[in-house]
Amino acid sequence: MLLKILKNRPSNPEISSIEIIQNARQIKGKTEEQLNQHERTSILNQLNNEHKTLILINRLYKVLGFFHPDEKKNSPNLTLEECRRAGEKSVCLLNDLKLKEVIVISESKSGSNALAFIEGMLLGNYQFIKYKSEKKAKSHSLHTIYINCAGISQKDIDQLNIVADSVFFCRNLVNEPQSWLTAVKLSEEISGMAKSSGVKVEVFNKSRIEALKMNGLLTVNKGSSRPPTFTVMEWKPSNAVNKKPIVLIGKGVVFDTGGINLKSSAGLDGMKCDMSGAAAVSGAICAIARLKLPLYIIGLLPATDNRPSGNAYVPGDIIAMMNGATVEVLNTDAEGRLILADAICYADLFKPSLLITMATLTGAAHAAIGKYGIVAMGADSSKAVAELKKCGDAVHERLAEFPFWNDYDELIKSDVADIKNVGGPYGGAITAGKFLAYFTKHPFIHLDIAGPAFVDKKDSYRGQGGTGVGVRLLVEFARVMAAKKS
Ligand code: BES
Ligand code: ZN
Ligand code: ZN
Repeated sequence: MLLKILKNRPSNPEISSIEIIQNARQIKGKTEEQLNQHERTSILNQLNNEHKTLILINRLYKVLGFFHPDEKKNSPNLTLEECRRAGEKSVCLLNDLKLKEVIVISESKSGSNALAFIEGMLLGNYQFIKYKSEKKAKSHSLHTIYINCAGISQKDIDQLNIVADSVFFCRNLVNEPQSWLTAVKLSEEISGMAKSSGVKVEVFNKSRIEALKMNGLLTVNKGSSRPPTFTVMEWKPSNAVNKKPIVLIGKGVVFDTGGINLKSSAGLDGMKCDMSGAAAVSGAICAIARLKLPLYIIGLLPATDNRPSGNAYVPGDIIAMMNGATVEVLNTDAEGRLILADAICYADLFKPSLLITMATLTGAAHAAIGKYGIVAMGADSSKAVAELKKCGDAVHERLAEFPFWNDYDELIKSDVADIKNVGGPYGGAITAGKFLAYFTKHPFIHLDIAGPAFVDKKDSYRGQGGTGVGVRLLVEFARVMAAKKS
């Protein structure tokens, strides 16, 4: 999609337009040519009496739209979300009518609502149609959004495009089937995007992983006929405001069958999404680099598939992890924490100021809050969690903080090893987080995105399938951190 700033209001009456208005008077001020008497009355009625905020008039050859966000009813953040959703709704109608261009108009000096509206249009226009035979016929008609908004600059648009590119990069990876997206392919895709974004990247192959004794990753990979990878990304600009990096770790299980503890078949196809953490972290770091944010960031992305086979790990196995700790495997489907533990140990090398894990880690997180938010927990990181929560509210990738009391530690104690990889039936998302926290002494935040990473049905501008959740959150967090310390 092309976003183009138009300095002057276009005179072409044939083209679709959507105006973001601040009050109903702006409707009354339209000329007879712009809106006839019936339309004017109907719009005012819908705005004032039916309390509709988005009114789209379908003239078949063009759409005439008016959007009046309800700023009295909602907080500023929820208003932004209303704008994004309205943007997506508008795009749906434009595409249904096979229209190619639209102008978004706003006279407001603050561009934030209009920018959120355009963000919703841009993200909502995403498609994953690579595997459709008739790509042309299926692809959305809308290709250009002209922007005539007082409060929006070219820089705003450039930044929006950068973040959207990363969201699409993430969604594409999540939507790719595992037959295409092996661990090696994932590392190659990430490397390609990283290099074109100015991010330093290195991929460790199996022998390097063996040399590093990343036994969590190697053990999960035992059932696979394909090798694991461990990708290291580095964005270290000379003007970075932090000396010790923020380390972001993403789970890269390209397909999770459950292993010997095989999952049941319902919804199993969705387990191609189990690398969403790695996709989100890598996408976010590339955006952060392209935005040239002065923040030192490391990304660590362990990747493999998890399968049963004659050589697969089994319940009862005991693994000596990279840092010497021993883990009793009680369920091969709790594989994510095993591969993440290696990354957390490796992160120690960098003496991080903050370590964040992002992973589709537990069904328990999904069950607890559904697709509506990210389950978050932290150790020694309350300020960072509070900051991240604010960012989550701003981009509507919201965090629900779970308790992380010491009491939960006893649930992962093992009789035969130091810890076990399952904490029992209660507090499953938390005991998974506790397992991860066991491997670090640095300030730590764990984000479980099992709920929002992948949606079966279309969810407004998040789309269907991979949502790209986590990208906008981490980019916003990096923005805030970069601005804070400088
Ligand atoms: N990848 C799954 C978690 C998941 C569930 C992701 C739903 C996306 C949507 C994870 O590896 C898993 O299977 N976890 C187990 C852990 C259990 C065996 C302790 C789970 O949550 O059932
Ligand atoms: Zn699993
Ligand atoms: Zn998994």
